[in-house]
Amino acid sequence: MGSRRAPCVHTAGQGSEGTAIICRAAVAWTPDTPVSLEDVQVDPPKAGEVRIKILFSGLCGTDLHILEGRTKMPFPIILGHEGAGVVESVGEGVTTVKPGDHVLPLSVPQCRECRSCLHPKGNFCRKENIISPTGLMLDGTSRFTCKGKRVFNLYGTSTFSEYTVVSEIAVARVDKAAPLDRVCIMSCQVPTGFGAVVNTAKVTSGSTCVVIGLGGIGLAIVMACKASGAARIIGVDINEDKFPWARELGVTDVLNPGQLSRPVQEEIQEMTGGGADFAFEAVGLNDTMVATLESCDPSFGVAVLVGMAPSGQKLTFDPILMLPGRNLRGGAMGEYKTRDAIPQLVSAYLQGHVRTDPLITHRFPFQDIRRAFRLQQEGGCIRCVLRLGEGQEVKDEQGGSL
Ligand code: APR
Ligand code: ZN
Repeated sequence: MGSRRAPCVHTAGQGSEGTAIICRAAVAWTPDTPVSLEDVQVDPPKAGEVRIKILFSGLCGTDLHILEGRTKMPFPIILGHEGAGVVESVGEGVTTVKPGDHVLPLSVPQCRECRSCLHPKGNFCRKENIISPTGLMLDGTSRFTCKGKRVFNLYGTSTFSEYTVVSEIAVARVDKAAPLDRVCIMSCQVPTGFGAVVNTAKVTSGSTCVVIGLGGIGLAIVMACKASGAARIIGVDINEDKFPWARELGVTDVLNPGQLSRPVQEEIQEMTGGGADFAFEAVGLNDTMVATLESCDPSFGVAVLVGMAPSGQKLTFDPILMLPGRNLRGGAMGEYKTRDAIPQLVSAYLQGHVRTDPLITHRFPFQDIRRAFRLQQEGGCIRCVLRLGEGQEVKDEQGGSL
């Protein structure tokens, strides 16, 4: 099998099919060490797999948590799971996408055959690689090598690489008219936040909502609460720099738990006359999960846990909290059946029904990925999108890239 440096003007499907590609990827060698840009070998797709030229990728809180060692994952690994790109080649038997198609790789696949996929409500495909991540493709091998070492993949996506290989069941084909630099966040951030509101909680018009954690996911939740007609949205964060963005997107009241003399849930209970209708956790800590549960009305409140807690932890709360009728819900990727729903979300974006552009506050070229990780760590962005390849990109009103 030949291997060559991918030319910078490489066009999908021209000549590289069936060969290994050498390209740039951000390799995380060990936890708690910045990623390093390396030449990696990306093997051709095997049967049922798709090789994608990644053009853009968002950097999500989960990528940072893995790099910090909070979420257990095999290393060395190529992170990134909010990408968008163009199909370069497909393996044997692939029928749903072809070279040149515009696609979003998905961390929650949709095989359309398993118990979850066949159930009308289930979306957590049994072929997922999130709960006990192997870092490998479905056949138990990896398509990445670097410096003679096997490199693991993240959730079967690994979008911090100029090329990646993804299982066909984890590829959403999207309208070619969609600007990939903007809809890349529809592979995780947007469905996770929107779906938590419309599918899991089913937020109602005129309701009071609480959102704990005003990062990329929390603010997508805020946006969807507002779109669902929530009358009051209480935003909670320990970083007050998030408040102006939160207010712009629809938060009506802000709380910094660090500035309160009592637990935030007590404050919220008082502010709402007994608890909110809906409360969302978008931090990923046990304490904020319990605070979320206690912030919603004891009798009819719905608490939704969206954040991912550090690996191996246990959530502890007094079960009497549930007796009056509180609801505690979870869900990944907003409970959307991913391959069906995400292309529809992209179409809704194109028709102007969902306006997600304000969720992207920063853009960097791929070589600045460490800077993007630092910004995410400091809380200085909502979402930072990295540009890995030349491609479809739209300009803002001033003519510059957003
Ligand atoms: N109370 C309130 N807010 C907090 C607290 C706390 N104790 N600790 C951190 N935060 C805030 C941060 O200041 C930040 O604004 O939570 C927000 C988290 O946002 P991001 O780091 O941008 O992460 P995001 O991408 O939004 O993901 C949030 O969802 O997908 C999961 O793994 C992800 O658990 C993470 C969560
Ligand atoms: Zn399935």
